[in-house]
Amino acid sequence: MRFLLAFAIACTLIGCGSTSPDTSTNSANPEAHQTEQLALVPYPSTVEIAKGKFTLANRVHLEAANGSETAKPALQALLTQLDITLSDTAPSQIELIMVEEPELGEEGYRLLIDTQISISANTDAGLFYGVQTLRQLLPASAQAEYALPLVAITDAPAFAWRGNMLDVARSFFPPEYIKSHIDRMARFKLNRLHLHLSDDQGWRVEINKYPKLTEIGGPSAVEGGRSGFYTQEEVRELVAYAQARHVTLVPEIDLPGHTQAALASYNELACDDVTNLSTYSGLEVGFSKLCLTNPEVIYPWVEDVLSEIIELFPSEYIHIGGDEIKDPLYAEFIARATQIVDDLGRTAIVWEEGSVADNDPDVLLQLWNDEYDIQPALERGHQLILSPCSYTYFDHGNYAGQPQTYDWCRKEGVPLERAYSLDTSAFGAAVGVESALWTELVHTDAAADNRLWPRLAVTAELGWSQASQRDYQQFTDRLTQLRPQLDALGIQYYLAPELGW
Ligand code: ACM
Repeated sequence: MRFLLAFAIACTLIGCGSTSPDTSTNSANPEAHQTEQLALVPYPSTVEIAKGKFTLANRVHLEAANGSETAKPALQALLTQLDITLSDTAPSQIELIMVEEPELGEEGYRLLIDTQISISANTDAGLFYGVQTLRQLLPASAQAEYALPLVAITDAPAFAWRGNMLDVARSFFPPEYIKSHIDRMARFKLNRLHLHLSDDQGWRVEINKYPKLTEIGGPSAVEGGRSGFYTQEEVRELVAYAQARHVTLVPEIDLPGHTQAALASYNELACDDVTNLSTYSGLEVGFSKLCLTNPEVIYPWVEDVLSEIIELFPSEYIHIGGDEIKDPLYAEFIARATQIVDDLGRTAIVWEEGSVADNDPDVLLQLWNDEYDIQPALERGHQLILSPCSYTYFDHGNYAGQPQTYDWCRKEGVPLERAYSLDTSAFGAAVGVESALWTELVHTDAAADNRLWPRLAVTAELGWSQASQRDYQQFTDRLTQLRPQLDALGIQYYLAPELGW
């Protein structure tokens, strides 16, 4: 409060600009920077900019509130990267302050830069996000000293769910890539990494009770793709790594279709008349399924697998797939599988088709076909994760005709502006937005980076910034300036001409 007051006084003396949408222009003050935007993505809810600069020396005094368990190490890492050392007698001060301000919620924060830097929030997560904003305001690499704008930022996310899905089943991503992906997501305040862990072409997570899933399904992959799997030890390490960056790993075991890797590993999961029980490396979908007329075989297996998944992943939500399968017993299977998740103390997510089942309204539905009629499910009280393919499927081209991309959902691909134009209010009750990287055609880290970035910055802004804040031109101006930050993160992004890259 002390600093807000100081900032208000400073504003009175020198004039402040605001980029919050509802602030009227102060034409009496020619010094005001009414339309100036800081190079921040996602853009904060309210930004007040005063004239002048704050100089951060290369020695600072850090005061961190108890409970800033992840925010303090994140800030320390940032200072280290910039060759800024800590000293109790330093001229510059940075404070992380715990407050109780209901309007900041679970993830919001205030960042004030005036005669010092202070970040306040109700939670460690809020402080962590304040640090991410400070990170974008600072240069990507070390300098002799740092000039920062005088700002008062108040910020909180539009949506709780700001996600990305990685298909690690068609083509595997080693743990090191997952870690850097988490770092990059966190930098942009994304907080849900949905791992598509099983499909026809591979099974990617060790299940102790069924070792053949990874003995047979692990070495399998889509043609040209990478094989492999995560041991339970590796999953635990990834979960902890993600937690320290406020990213929840959301596991998906795709059921009852997309299961060729499981059927090849445990043939009894298939109906007796199924003759093709080999592993699969092609591109078709919709040909495999658990034998739904053998409930005494498949349900104990589903329950055992999900029990181990739940032990490994603390996520409140567990994804059970449910896409692209036709079977008279499909709806019954989905209802039973979502109930199994519920009995295990968690809540299920299913792809949109699962909305035909008699699920508890808590079950989240992930919308992926723009035109799917989700209205009946909304009327029953379900909420949505928004992944309409013509905006969020990043296996589609950065531009029309990009090699090694799909175009079945949108023949022009999903260029940056198209992705940005998703109206998050158009599909009904949403917990948030999630872009998806399917990997039938994406077989290397470099290809994944190229499909994900810079479009993942769009997902971040759609998920975090209020709809009234969104402006494509301003977004591209801001993102253009953040290129050195993407470089410092080692991202092999697509050179988007829209950004002048
Ligand atoms: C999907 O794209 N089959 C969810």
